[in-house]
Amino acid sequence: MKNNLLKEKEVCEYLKVSRTTLWRMKKEGMPNIKVGNSYRYKIDDVMNWVTKEEKIIYSSKNAEDQKLVEEKEEETQERIVNSYSIDLEYLWQHNLCYLSKIFSTRQLKTLKERLSKYKDLPFSNSRIVKIFTNEYNRLIKEDFQQQNRHPDFDNELNRFISKNDNSIKIIWGNCLDALKRMESESVQLMITSPPYFNAREYSQWGTIDNYLGDMRKIIRESYRVLDNHRVWVWNVGDIFDNDNKVTKSVWGKRRIPLGAYFTKIFEEEGFEFVDDFIWDKGEVESKRHMNGGIDYPFYQYPLNCYEHILIFHKHRLDTTKIPCPICGSLKVNGNTQSEIGVQSWECKNNKCFLRSPNNRGKRFSLRTNMMQYGHNNDPKNLIEKEITNKWRRDIVPFSPVIKINQNGQNIIGHTAPFPEDIPEMAIKYFSYTGEKILDPFAGIFTTPIVARKLHRIGIGIEINKSSFRNAIIKRIDSSSDIFYSNENLYTEYDL
Ligand SMILES: C[S@@+](CC[C@H](N)C(=O)[O-])C[C@H]1O[C@@H](n2cnc3c(N)ncnc32)[C@H](O)[C@@H]1O
Ligand SMILES: [Zn+2]
Repeated sequence: MKNNLLKEKEVCEYLKVSRTTLWRMKKEGMPNIKVGNSYRYKIDDVMNWVTKEEKIIYSSKNAEDQKLVEEKEEETQERIVNSYSIDLEYLWQHNLCYLSKIFSTRQLKTLKERLSKYKDLPFSNSRIVKIFTNEYNRLIKEDFQQQNRHPDFDNELNRFISKNDNSIKIIWGNCLDALKRMESESVQLMITSPPYFNAREYSQWGTIDNYLGDMRKIIRESYRVLDNHRVWVWNVGDIFDNDNKVTKSVWGKRRIPLGAYFTKIFEEEGFEFVDDFIWDKGEVESKRHMNGGIDYPFYQYPLNCYEHILIFHKHRLDTTKIPCPICGSLKVNGNTQSEIGVQSWECKNNKCFLRSPNNRGKRFSLRTNMMQYGHNNDPKNLIEKEITNKWRRDIVPFSPVIKINQNGQNIIGHTAPFPEDIPEMAIKYFSYTGEKILDPFAGIFTTPIVARKLHRIGIGIEINKSSFRNAIIKRIDSSSDIFYSNENLYTEYDL
């Protein structure tokens, strides 16, 4: 290859440079041979020239060059850090123009008061930026929450949920009522397995449309309650049942694709579909697939042995500026949305500690800020290798909960719990320690129990108090060895 004459595309690939860079190099005297209207390059000559002229810097993907860029970046950062020191008073003055545009006088006063609590403490620049950003975001959020409450908002219920006592929070009642009363964007992750239409005796509907209509109302309300840029994990199976739309007789029975129906409803209610993990429930004991031994077309169907674990994002577009996570400046310009509903920003403070080699400011969004700084480098937020390996593919085998003992008795007190595998993945993948995790169809509280085990706040809503209370309390108690001592394992609230 070395003695060949390379074409423009080939030499670009060889040097790992773009066409524009090649053009510049050519202009600066890089050897080339004109053939008709195009150019050829003798690679030895090119490499001699590149090395002699130290033009290797052009190669943007080249490791050497990357190092040079990084060194230069560090140098620039150092220079700026040395000459630019910030404190809260500085950030206040620096941002006052924008702050007075978006906040009322009363809000400005609140922010100033809150910031003044940190005033005389010696903090590093990055800590100051964090404090300012947190207080700023808190005020923006409080304002949003107050303006977006449901008329049924219930102060007492929200105080119960927010009580900082590590207990599992049990809410007895209909989850639609509970959600209506809850603060907007106050829960960081929702996980559930809803009733699968008429699959169980404890919840029944007239037709599939009544059922989906009820579920839609709950999903709509949950959109308001789920925090922005957060996740809903919805486990559901495609059942075999009568949708009761035409006939109630056995002839109306068919496979009902609940997974597909819910995906559509979630999208229509503003969520973004992200993934569908297929839970492979393993071998099924039924012999139904034999179909009377008739091995002719249209007789054969597979047995159902999977469920969906649907993942949805909430991205409510919010164009309120957010401070640069590096320097705390609100001198930021809106970039395009990095994803539908995710506003991204670029820092325009030319004293910012971080600028790219071609002098572009830090680019960020609420979502990237959360992802980069939300974990706080806390080891409790690390996801173990076994978990990422287990959930590496989107078909994941694990066993359903065994509920029935050898004597045919239900040993768990509920007919449809999901295994801990589901909330464990959801919580580790989509939340940080200390955050609120809600299961609105809590059953025997698998989600809140796992949440607490993983140092999150577990909240569950369950409508059938009389049927399940004993089983729930027993289960929470029996998981108590994993919990912190001297604290309430659970607290209860009746709607
Ligand atoms: C499929 S089970 C959930 C099981 C749960 N994942 C577990 O591991 O135990 C659904 C639960 O939702 C409850 N439920 C049904 N409708 C409800 C509603 N409107 N509000 C609250 N709970 C409801 C049922 O009583 C049932 O316990
Ligand atoms: Zn900045």
